[in-house]
Amino acid sequence: MKLSEQVKILEFFDLGDERGNLVVVEGSGYDIPFDIKRVFYIYGSDNSVVRGQHANRKTEFVMINVSGRSKVKVDNGWEQKVIELNKPRMGLYMSTMVWKDMFDFSEDSVLLVLASEHYDAEEYIRNHDDFMREIAKA
Ligand code: TYD
Repeated sequence: MKLSEQVKILEFFDLGDERGNLVVVEGSGYDIPFDIKRVFYIYGSDNSVVRGQHANRKTEFVMINVSGRSKVKVDNGWEQKVIELNKPRMGLYMSTMVWKDMFDFSEDSVLLVLASEHYDAEEYIRNHDDFMREIAKA
């Protein structure tokens, strides 16, 4: 499958007014294409850290830098791309079987992650050679 079908940049509406900004992200096909079962966020990682380094057999994700910025390298085994997340209105959708590395976190980075599944260590692929083998079989 093409990386452009597996990874998509989303832009959320800002319902803000003179009181400030308000961004709403609704699941189940409204703003993002899945039901949100899990939310986690990453902060306090500096620009020497690389996080992620895994792919998921079952989980789809949307990442949003609600504060600061970070970069995400996405890889489907054949194509790679680096995307900078730097706006609270910007989301990065990733389908299953996308290898992701998050890096270059700004000091004020808060990376919010919405996930389509509950945590299950078994559905994570943490070895890139294993990932390549599974991709080749598919
Ligand atoms: P890890 O997958 O390394 O995080 P990241 O994707 O940010 O690099 O997760 C670190 C630890 O936290 C690891 O032991 C698994 C655990 N964890 C959970 O228990 N639930 C979760 O939802 C996540 C994302 C991680």
